[in-house]
Amino acid sequence: MNSMIFDKAADALPDECFSVAPDLTVILGSGWGQALKVDRLLVGISYADMPGLGAATVAGHAGEFKLYERAGKRIAAFCGRRHWYEGVGWEAVVLPVELARRMGCGKLLLTNASGGINPVLRPGDLVILKDHINTVGINPLAGSHNPAWGPRFPDMSDVYTQHLRDVLHAVANRQGVRAMEGTYAFTAGPVFETPAEIRAYRSMGADVVGMSTVPEAVFAHACGMQVAGVALVSNLAAGISSKPLCHAEVLEATAGAQAVMAGFIDEFMACC
Ligand code: HPA
Repeated sequence: MNSMIFDKAADALPDECFSVAPDLTVILGSGWGQALKVDRLLVGISYADMPGLGAATVAGHAGEFKLYERAGKRIAAFCGRRHWYEGVGWEAVVLPVELARRMGCGKLLLTNASGGINPVLRPGDLVILKDHINTVGINPLAGSHNPAWGPRFPDMSDVYTQHLRDVLHAVANRQGVRAMEGTYAFTAGPVFETPAEIRAYRSMGADVVGMSTVPEAVFAHACGMQVAGVALVSNLAAGISSKPLCHAEVLEATAGAQAVMAGFIDEFMACC
């Protein structure tokens, strides 16, 4: 990846971002963007004004960075993300993680909307990520090695930090939210999967499928950050659902789950 893109993005942020390390960085996927409760906003910038990120191209992706305080914690929130399928390169996809790393933040929460593969899942359920399958076969760390991003061959046996998974389970229990632990299959998109692909991913051990999260998780884990991931099941995956898939269904499901997601993230922030 081209570090100069990251340098430009960091230079464009106010000094406030680098004065104190955030306790947590969150990257919010489709529909999760409105889920934040803010006590005191310190910095708010539209992605359109952040070099290297650019305006979000996907409906439901807010495209705003916020640094704020909530319940005594300092939070860096990226509301909306860029995806591999947008053709904007890995830099734009992992830029939020690199900025978090440069701010000195050691903890990352990734959220997304995903298709449910495991037959016990229903739309509206949350899945706490315990592992992932990168069906795309490539990742942001391919290319010349930058030691700041970890070893040349980073271990991926434990990407999603156990302690943060425990906290996510505790929050789900307290709030009475249906949340199981599961494995996320990352696909390139922008096409949804075929029923045969979904059967294949199921036999490989995937519980949910989506087009995001894994690049950021891989990069953050290699850099030594603690990583947590939560998928909202917005629809049943292809072949499990009886109807064709569409993005509008994803947005509708995430809109319906706003209150649950807001409460869930808020409590996680307070106790992680
Ligand atoms: N497949 C891939 N990505 C998704 C899905 C899906 O079914 N739902 C939401 N994002």
